[in-house]
This record gives sequence, structure tokens and C-alpha cells, in this order.
Amino acid sequence: MIRTNNISFSYKEFENNEELDPGDRELVLAARESALKAYAPYSKFRVGAAIRLESGIIVSGANVENAAFPSGICAERTAFSNSVSNHPNDKASAIAIAAMTEDSLTYEPVTPCGNCRQVIAEEESRTGKNIRIILSGVNRTIIVESISCLLPLQFNKKNLKGDLPL
Ligand code: THU
Repeated sequence: MIRTNNISFSYKEFENNEELDPGDRELVLAARESALKAYAPYSKFRVGAAIRLESGIIVSGANVENAAFPSGICAERTAFSNSVSNHPNDKASAIAIAAMTEDSLTYEPVTPCGNCRQVIAEEESRTGKNIRIILSGVNRTIIVESISCLLPLQFNKKNLKGDLPL
């Protein structure tokens, strides 16, 4: 039998950062602050990510580029390396991402690259907790409730058992 299935997800869109919950607004500001600390001499595209842990702690990271281009790392993975290694038992509940070109924040939200989506998926799977993803631009902010929205049919540890129905 052949079936055609659909996957859909909803996301929230905020036209003004003032409309965000205070905690989310704080996280966006932390991501923006972190973008200022990026080392991105090659792309000149500075990205900051700020993770809110269950305890309330905010852990952030920026992209760190390298003359050997593939050795560079994105802001999201810098932030998760930081949170997992320094707060291994504290679960991430949200991550905010902000980016800058030249000296100004991007007008539109920037979404995580494929590698970073996979890392966020691993973190949800490790902790069993959904991570809200807050994508912020100057013009608007978008929030999804889980990485499954950005990475449907994902590969994770359940696949390694070989018996996961997609
Ligand atoms: N980058 C991030 O840090 N996060 C993303 O979500 C997208 C891309 C970085 C990688 C590289 O240093 C620069 O942005 C240009 O791709």
C-alpha cells in the first residue's frame, strides 16, 4: 500500500520584540550581545546564540571561524558545547539566535544550519525536553517549539536501534 503523508508545524511570529515574553526578550538580547563577540573575519557574518537552561542560567556562544574554513564552528554549537560541558545536568529549554552583517543586526531572522539543527536534535534527545528556538531579526522574531519543526524525520539515537517507525 502507498500512502502520502504530510508533516506540518506552526510557528509564532512577532512583529515587534516588545511583544516577546520578558524571558525570551532577555535571551534575544544575550544572543545579540554574543554576536558582538564572534570571530568571523572571513565571512564577516557574526552570529550569537544564547541558551536558557532549566535552572534559569543563560549560556551563550558565538561563531568562531578559522583560516581552514571547515574548522570554524557556528554560534549554536559553540553555545551547546559550553552548556553541555559546564552544566551537564541542566536541560536546555530555549535557544535564541541573532546575527549581524557588518555592524547591524540582520533585518530578518536567521535559521540554524543543518549541522546545528542536528546538534539541537541530539540535545532534545539527550534530555527528553523540547527546546524552543527563537529566531530573531530586527524586523520580526519567529519561535518554534521544537527542533522537530526545523528537522522533521530526524536521525537520532532511536534510529540506532533500527526499529523506529518514521
Ligand atoms: N553561522 C552560524 O554561526 N550559525 C548559523 O546558524 C549559520 C551560520 C556562521 C558560520 C560562519 O562562521 C558564518 O556564520 C557564515 O556562514
